[in-house]
Amino acid sequence: MKKYTSVHDVADLDQLVEEALHLKANPYKYKNLGENKTLGLIFLNPSLRTRLSTQKAGQNLGMNVIVMNLDKEGWALETQQGAIMNGSTVEHIKEAAAVMGEYCDIIGIRSFPKLQNREEDYNEELLQQFIQYSKKPIVSLESATRHPLQSLADLLTIKENKVEGKRPKVVLSWAPHIKPIPQCVANSFAEWMGQADVDFVITHPEGYGLADEFSAGATVTTNQQEALEGADFVYVKNWSSYTNYGQVLTDGEGWMLTNERLQVSNNAKVMHCLPVRRNVELSDEILDGPNSLVLEQANNRTYAAQAVLKRMLEAK
Ligand code: CP
Repeated sequence: MKKYTSVHDVADLDQLVEEALHLKANPYKYKNLGENKTLGLIFLNPSLRTRLSTQKAGQNLGMNVIVMNLDKEGWALETQQGAIMNGSTVEHIKEAAAVMGEYCDIIGIRSFPKLQNREEDYNEELLQQFIQYSKKPIVSLESATRHPLQSLADLLTIKENKVEGKRPKVVLSWAPHIKPIPQCVANSFAEWMGQADVDFVITHPEGYGLADEFSAGATVTTNQQEALEGADFVYVKNWSSYTNYGQVLTDGEGWMLTNERLQVSNNAKVMHCLPVRRNVELSDEILDGPNSLVLEQANNRTYAAQAVLKRMLEAK
């Protein structure tokens, strides 16, 4: 595996899930695989889970891990081709990514969308330039449009918690939030569920439809209660509008998930990638209750990352 930026970089999804579960049971089995190899984790945005779990994953494989908050600790980065750099940017991504490629054997990069220009964000300019100029295997730690390590961890979590022999009903339910949030997690989860053995439903208020490339194959409804009927898993997430790009169109009254709203479900397990706004997106009673999977999801981030890094190390 030379890059891990979406589900499309995974040739054998079931095998990757099995590999991650094997690593969860045997986290140090391959502790010599990454000996004398360096993992560079580059963050242009805040992170708790991605940063710590990917660092731990690299260390479990015996790698040296370097972490840099590029937005705060690096030079201001220029990404435009042909830019006359007489303004605030100090270093072009051509040199910055290439230099990191000299120091690292595998590079992870996190860069959120600006939510101002949809075409620019959905072109994944920064991620693509890192792939091009670093010349090293690249792992997306969440890009402008996707969060593939989160999605792999989510799929592991569903596999571990589903009833054997039953095709689960999985619902992605939009939730309120106080500010515009990227579509990455929702896009990515939808894209992965499209490849998984599940019945998948997306529910959101009017104006929050995801891009067709992500929601293709899903049942989409603006009626949350209808969507929740018989659900085995409910994935709660806010995202800003794709059509009115980056905008918040509603205060989302009535969309926060509560036990009352879940009564029509099949005693659904509830998922969220975290961080979560308690009592805005999800009620305390759910997060603190027996059906919450949020900590299992967070734990599985380590083994999702470890499976991906292992494949990259083995491919070198
Ligand atoms: N879920 C997730 O990616 O969390 P962080 O933003 O804390 O890394």
